[in-house]
Amino acid sequence: MSVAQNGEAVLSGDLARAVIDPHGYAEWTGLLDTFDHIRSTTPVAKVQPDTPGLFDPFWLVTRYDDVMRISKDNATFLNNPRPVVFSFNQAIEFSRAATGSNMLVDSLVVFDAPIHPKYRKLTQEWFMPRNLAQLEDELRALAARTVDRMLEQGPEVDFVKEVSGPYPLRVVMQILGVPPEDEFRMQMLTQQLFGGQDKDLSGSGMDQMTPEQVVQIVAGAVKTFEDYFAGIAEDRRKNPTDDVASVIANALVDGHPLPPRDMAGYYIIVATAGHDTTSASTAGAMQALANDPEQWARVKADRSLLPGIVEEAIRWTSPVQHFMRTAAEDVELGGQHIRKGDWLMINYVAANHDPAQFSDPRRFDAARSPNRHLAFGAGAHQCLGLHLARLEMKILFEALLDRIESVEPAGEAKRASSTFVGGLKTLPLRVTAA
Ligand code: HEM
Repeated sequence: MSVAQNGEAVLSGDLARAVIDPHGYAEWTGLLDTFDHIRSTTPVAKVQPDTPGLFDPFWLVTRYDDVMRISKDNATFLNNPRPVVFSFNQAIEFSRAATGSNMLVDSLVVFDAPIHPKYRKLTQEWFMPRNLAQLEDELRALAARTVDRMLEQGPEVDFVKEVSGPYPLRVVMQILGVPPEDEFRMQMLTQQLFGGQDKDLSGSGMDQMTPEQVVQIVAGAVKTFEDYFAGIAEDRRKNPTDDVASVIANALVDGHPLPPRDMAGYYIIVATAGHDTTSASTAGAMQALANDPEQWARVKADRSLLPGIVEEAIRWTSPVQHFMRTAAEDVELGGQHIRKGDWLMINYVAANHDPAQFSDPRRFDAARSPNRHLAFGAGAHQCLGLHLARLEMKILFEALLDRIESVEPAGEAKRASSTFVGGLKTLPLRVTAA
């Protein structure tokens, strides 16, 4: 940390690199140590690039209360015009040249009022518990099939490959009308979109990629998604069903259908936001329980802990690691003067491990109460799919607790190298059927 002449808390050098380097995000303990250090010394600090022009400086916000305040004040902290996900300047320029916009995808998260509430309203009801109840039987059958298949492969399995990956993927693809034979392609595309910085997930096999290489992988994935969902939308206009794909295809805003780019963005955010996130939370919780046989036995014996497991899984893993905001006006935050137009990173990993809000934050505690985590965000953009995520995870954990007697680690688990959506990409476990 250094303090600039104008009194600004500035992060540069190693600390700044730790915040923006995707490889650092593959090392969870080191990452939490970094955020603990930054939060306790400079809870609101300006991250500066070593190389001028590499990225625009931004304010890193690590305290729970500050992240909550920003998330809820959607008039002062906007999701536009600066990118809503941390991006290098080269990537932003590429996006502008390709699409005329700072972001490759214009989805729900990049809009502010007055457009955002109108777009959000289109599918809000669909994602409410009352409507989701109709999915429960199907989810139960899918969860049982997935866990049974894993046990047939056992006793040693990669839990991400067999369970936490495929289960939420099928759920989201089903609500979007994507047939099972196209699922694998959709998963690859999502991983390229979110894990463009990871050599395995991006499919590039390259450890160090330039921002341009990353952005080309991401842009290719976006284009393929757009073409694919244009086909689905056309079909749902002709043959509407009760899925969310039909709601988006036939939606009217101020009497007009969604413009093609916005419609593609809507499909893409539902397709992508819904599975790697849920997968990461589920895998993280299984890892924690595999490392803690006593807690596994306790949750197996007491199903009233189920909602607690789900909530703690989501807090403890915080798979969406950050979002960015743009200040609409000058504002004071954590003793720092934020200027109109400044860029801010609200860091959910740091906020959800803030000891001022959570006692012993690194401990996975299925009985944690209260657990008012920020992993789904807050305010106008709070996760649209949070009820779905909770429901599918609860049903999956029911099946896991019913069918597995004991579980233990069976090798090294690996996390994705990604600053945006992160979590386990492999989790070797030894499972014994009940
Ligand atoms: C554990 C699972 C999940 C986590 C941790 C998560 C997290 C988040 C976060 C942090 C945001 C931004 C909130 C903000 O800016 O305040 C968000 C937005 C969003 N999420 Fe999720 N999400 C999850 C699952 C899902 C699922 C299952 C879906 C849908 C199938 C979904 C769809 C969306 C959409 C559409 C938005 C944009 C909402 C808006 O801008 O109005 N998410 N999510």
